[in-house]
Amino acid sequence: MRRRTLLGCLIAGLGFGWADDEQIWKEYLAWYRQQPIGISDLSTAYAEHLKSLGLDAGTVRERLNVVERLSKTRRAELHPFFFDRTYSSGAPRFNTAPNALLVETVRDLKPGRALDIHMGEGRNALFLASKGWDVTGFDFSEAGVAAAKRAAERAGVSVTALVCRHEDFDFGRAQWDLVVMSYTWVPLRGADYVGRIIESLKPGGILVFEHMMDDSGSPGAAPWLPRPNELLRVFGRLRIRRYEDVRARADWSWREERVARLVAERTPVPPDVLDR
Ligand SMILES: C[S@@+](CC[C@H](N)C(=O)[O-])C[C@H]1O[C@@H](n2cnc3c(N)ncnc32)[C@H](O)[C@@H]1O
Repeated sequence: MRRRTLLGCLIAGLGFGWADDEQIWKEYLAWYRQQPIGISDLSTAYAEHLKSLGLDAGTVRERLNVVERLSKTRRAELHPFFFDRTYSSGAPRFNTAPNALLVETVRDLKPGRALDIHMGEGRNALFLASKGWDVTGFDFSEAGVAAAKRAAERAGVSVTALVCRHEDFDFGRAQWDLVVMSYTWVPLRGADYVGRIIESLKPGGILVFEHMMDDSGSPGAAPWLPRPNELLRVFGRLRIRRYEDVRARADWSWREERVARLVAERTPVPPDVLDR
């Protein structure tokens, strides 16, 4: 009897488009990752999609409410798919040439082991590999890493490209002669990824960092946007070889932005300097 009741509920649910919040969210994620990057009003587009599946207006409204609510608390789950959409768009919205600061910095360096944090489509990793570096890169965007692998194959260079979140990546200790952080979105505040990155550099190893900055001064600014002079403090255990806070066309933007650039070396800084 009980089985029949449950089965009845299931059939009724399927018939009327019933689903629990988790299911609704999963279906939204599956839809979201397939959408072209240019869509400005995702909510309307998703409503149209649900209607095209035959759901009635009330059910569509309920599902949109669930998606809106969960998007606030589970936004991070959308991030890899946002970048998948970017890399699958066929029309790159970023500079596809290697980062100029990186090109300039490695000109006089002897190639060694390099790590490209959040490699995206691998524009920097491929450049380094073409210059003789032994390169590992990782990113949580499957589409980005797949594109990087394809590009490496086309270019006839070897790059180790991994799908991984920085939260899970084993940076190791004293592993890398060069670490590249090009528009990485790695939080500079609130989690000690930076400490792990510093530890992963070999003595004498070089860090190259470039990113748009927070220009709002707001306390709620995204943790991956450096604030004025913040990099000098965050990477203060390294010897800062170059630091710039400039207005420039950022690699990941269409407009001029406030951009931070840093080149630093893992050379011990006297502790009394850090204490000051
Ligand atoms: C603005 S893009 C920069 C890509 C590349 N470094 C470049 O300069 O072209 C930021 C990259 O960070 C990746 N990303 C963001 N958060 C991540 C995380 N928690 N773990 C792994 N990758 C992440 C995204 O997938 C995206 O490819």
